[in-house]
Order: sequence, then C-alpha cells, then structure tokens
Amino acid sequence: MKKILIEGGAPLFGEVQISGAKNSVLPLIAATLLTDGTSIIDDCPWLSDVDTMCRVLAHLGARPNFDHNVLSIDTSELNQIDPPAELMRQMRASFLVMGPILARLGKVRLALPGGCAIGARPIDLHLKGFEALGATVTMGHGYVEAQAKRLYGSRIYLDFPSVGATENLIMAASLAEGHTIIDNAAHEPEIIDLANMLNAMGAKIKGAGTNTIRIEGVEALQAARHTVIPDRIEAASFLAMAAATGGELILHNVISEHLQPLTAKLMEIGVSMEIGYDSIHILGNKDIDPVDIKTLPYPGFPTDAQAQFMALLSVARGSSIITETVFENRFMHATELMKMGADIRIEGNSAIVNGVSRLSGASVRATDLRGGAAMVIAGQMAQGITEITDIHHIERGYENLIRKLEKIGTRIKLVEE
Ligand code: UD1
Repeated sequence: MKKILIEGGAPLFGEVQISGAKNSVLPLIAATLLTDGTSIIDDCPWLSDVDTMCRVLAHLGARPNFDHNVLSIDTSELNQIDPPAELMRQMRASFLVMGPILARLGKVRLALPGGCAIGARPIDLHLKGFEALGATVTMGHGYVEAQAKRLYGSRIYLDFPSVGATENLIMAASLAEGHTIIDNAAHEPEIIDLANMLNAMGAKIKGAGTNTIRIEGVEALQAARHTVIPDRIEAASFLAMAAATGGELILHNVISEHLQPLTAKLMEIGVSMEIGYDSIHILGNKDIDPVDIKTLPYPGFPTDAQAQFMALLSVARGSSIITETVFENRFMHATELMKMGADIRIEGNSAIVNGVSRLSGASVRATDLRGGAAMVIAGQMAQGITEITDIHHIERGYENLIRKLEKIGTRIKLVEE
C-alpha cells in the first residue's frame, strides 16, 4: 500500500513542466485502432490510465511501445474484439475503444466500464449514436455488444454534450459510409485534438470545437504522428496550489486559452498572473477572496478542477458556493476536507464553503483522481502533517507528481508499506 505524507506551510516557488493531457491521450490511443500501421503519439504522459489503455489495446492484438514520452502503437494485426473485463472496469475511458473496434472489425464486445465513482455515468448516448450509425447493440450480464457489417453516416443529436460519446462517435463515423452530423457535440479542447489526429490519418472532420461536427466517412485511415495538447487540468491543479499557498510558480507547456475559465476565477479571488506565449506565471496572494463556481461543459468551469478549487476556497475570507452540474456525486472530497477543519455544507448539487483561517493536517483519502489532487493542495495549506491514502487514484492522472512537487518546495514523502 502506498501513501503520501505532506508537511504543510512550505512556500512554493519554481517552475513546472505541464505534461501531455490525460484526457486527450486516452482517445488518441483508441483512435490508433482505426488504422493498420504504426501511429506515434508524442508528449504522451506516463500514467496508470495510459498503461491500462495500452494493455487494452495489447489484448486486441496491437503492439504499444512507450519510450521517453513517445508512444508508438502498431495496430496492423488486430485479432480480438473483447478486451478482458478486469481491464475495462479499471477506467471508464476504456470504453473509447468501442467506436474504433466496431468501425474497423464490424463487431465488438465490452464489459461495462468503471472509473472514478463520481456518479452513475451511463453510456446511453454512446450506444444511441452507434445505433444511429446502423449498429445492432445488445446488452446483458454486464457486457455490451455491437455489430455492423458497415456503418452508415447519420444525423445524431446528443441530449448532453458528452465528451466520451462525441469522441466515440467521431471515431466510428470516420470510417462510416456517407456523412455524419453530430449536434450538441462536446467542444472540449480534447475533442479538437482528437479531430486533428484523425484528420492527419486521412479522416474528413469539420467543426470540432463547435456544437456541430461534420464527418465525411472515408474507406480507410493511415497511421499518423501527433503531439498531445498540454494537460489543462494538471495546469489547473498547479494554479490552484500556487493560489492556495501564496506561492509563485511558472507553468510551462500550457495553452492559456484552454485555462480561461480557471484564470478568470483566480483573478476574481485576488491572484495575479502573467500569461506568456506558452507559459503562465502565477503569484499567489495570502488573502483569498471567496467566489462562486458552477461547473459546466467547456468553455465553462471544468468539473475536473472543482475539487482542487474547493480546497483552495476552504480558506477564503468568506463563503463561496460551488455548484456541480456535470456529475451527480462529485463532492466526496468535501468530507475529507472537513476532516482537516474545512467548513463545508452540501445542499443538493451545491457545496457552501465557509472559509476558515487555516486547515490542520489529518489522515485523509484520495476519494477519486481529482479529489486526491485536492488533498495534495489542502495538505500544503494545512498546519502539520497530512497523510493521504488511496493514492492509486492520483497516479491515474498526474505524471511524476511527487518529483514535480519536490522541485517546487513541497515537503512530501512517498511511503510504501
Ligand atoms: C470526460 C473526462 C472526465 C471529465 C468529463 C466531463 C476523459 C477520459 N474523461 O469523461 O475527466 O470529468 O469528461 O468533462 O476525457 N452521460 C450520460 N450518458 C452517456 C455519457 C455521459 O448520461 O452516454 C453523462 C455522465 O453521466 C455525466 C455527463 O454526461 O453526468 C458528462 O459525461 P461525459 O462528458 O461523457 O464524461 P466522460 O467522457 O466520461
């Protein structure tokens, strides 16, 4: 069992290199299944979720190879349509292989996916979309099966702009016959990154990053080389950390436009920032003003940064209201913050965070990936030592976190028992 110990109160100072985006690289890895060559993904972060995705692909017959943040995947010999259930259940994003396998092999059988316990997270929008493209979908005994000799372009309206459903459907539609239009599509930057790689493979996708995505199906795609966009949620976590500790950090490898919903909130709470070409210089302020936050699909405030900002606002000079509209059960970290002295009341999908003068170190749990990041931030603000358990959640999405934190002055120790 691994845990992290953090001694709070250290002033944070220095530079952080932001890694490639986890939420981009997972669909990019799935997309390589659409070709029968060797695709290369540059700036690929080494994370346990990336490892899981590579193992899913290896079971299908692909040959992934990771070397110094370059991931190459040979997908020329796919021979399976049903990756093992224990891998599928490790993370929800494994479900992104459904569209590519269906489009390339005509049949797919998957165990229903797992992932962070942050809500029911159904897959109905993915499945409705595959049916609209002509697939026959059946479910039972914890598995979903889909088949189609050929997929046919269609017009698909998503009831909610689901990131995963948009990605799965773009990938499947790229090899469908005819035109597909996805209305109410997600517009997260990761969707644009996926469309860029697919277009480099020969796909014909227009409108990624808007509500309506148009895809003209092609007969085949070719392997391509692509660099992952920077991880905006990792950057958000370090920004919240600098703000929370009154530290001074320079983050490199960021696309500041992707961070606008976050930097806008940071300015409201009194933090100053200088935005460079691909960097952000942040100067935390000891006094944090309260602010209200509502999570929304991009370009709204990202749900994936909600927990980190809750940690930050727990020591603001007043009350903040955080409303979570994307997931129905994403306040588990609030209970852990309360163990450290935070004053938080949950009412439905809102958390009322009354700032306290300081948190105190305690034994807490990483309840999920971003909840774990919130504990790392809280631990640095707190007086005394904070012990964080269940850190496998954190390892899913933060590359070299301990090394990056040590470099900027965090007093942190990894303990393996
Ligand atoms: C992705 C991100 C995750 C982020 C989330 C929202 C990846 C690998 N993960 O997850 O970090 O928190 O976007 O920004 O990119 N829904 C349905 N039916 C569906 C699909 C989704 O009801 O078929 C609901 C979900 O339960 C949830 C909401 O839609 O309440 C958003 O989910 P979605 O956008 O699909 O998130 P993910 O793609 O799973």
